[in-house]
Amino acid sequence: MANKPFSPSSERNKEAILEVLSGVISLSDRRILEIGSGTGQHAVFFAKHFPHAEWYPTDVTANLKGINQWVEEAGLFNLQKAQRMEVGKDELPKLKFDVIFTANTFHIMHWKECKSLIKMFAGRLREDSRVVIYGPFKIDGKFTSESNEAFDQELKMSDPMSGIRSFEDVNNNMIKVGFELVNNVSMPANNQMLIYRRLKFQG
Ligand SMILES: C[S@@+](CC[C@H](N)C(=O)[O-])C[C@H]1O[C@@H](n2cnc3c(N)ncnc32)[C@H](O)[C@@H]1O
Repeated sequence: MANKPFSPSSERNKEAILEVLSGVISLSDRRILEIGSGTGQHAVFFAKHFPHAEWYPTDVTANLKGINQWVEEAGLFNLQKAQRMEVGKDELPKLKFDVIFTANTFHIMHWKECKSLIKMFAGRLREDSRVVIYGPFKIDGKFTSESNEAFDQELKMSDPMSGIRSFEDVNNNMIKVGFELVNNVSMPANNQMLIYRRLKFQG
């Protein structure tokens, strides 16, 4: 299909992400929600690799057309059409999800939106469901590379409220709403993959 959106970084990181996701997504998982699908490349690639589960891509309105070009071209029976899910404006789709995946969104969204997304994870996911957050993070208050520091400055030049988040801030907020950190995997190109599991609700 002509003029599909294309992200070179999605092509570069998809195999490494798949390797980690393969240890997180199990055969009993039925529905996977993706927040901030971007071009749709990840959705197509991962849906192909997890044919037992329905993959639900979402993003802001402006990206839906492009994602759906990828979705339609792929013709996968387990890949849903992209739906609008703009953190800060929308609720999560009202379905039971086993896994929520989001890549490279925490440094784009404002921190208020990141916190609101974390609260939505907690409101929607049941015990043992997982959240996977991929992207660059600061650890112990420090950037993990000079290139991430430069990237952070670049992000802030176009939007002062964006920027690379601290792993500890994300982690504290996830723990506060009832998740445990299963793993913090160091990924190629100075990225991390944060894997959380929903604990039993303690009222
Ligand atoms: C850097 S792109 C990452 C796209 C894709 N996940 C990837 O890794 O290639 C960030 C994505 O977050 C989306 N995004 C930004 N703010 C958002 C919000 N408030 N709610 C949902 N998605 C948002 C953007 O539209 C964009 O698709």
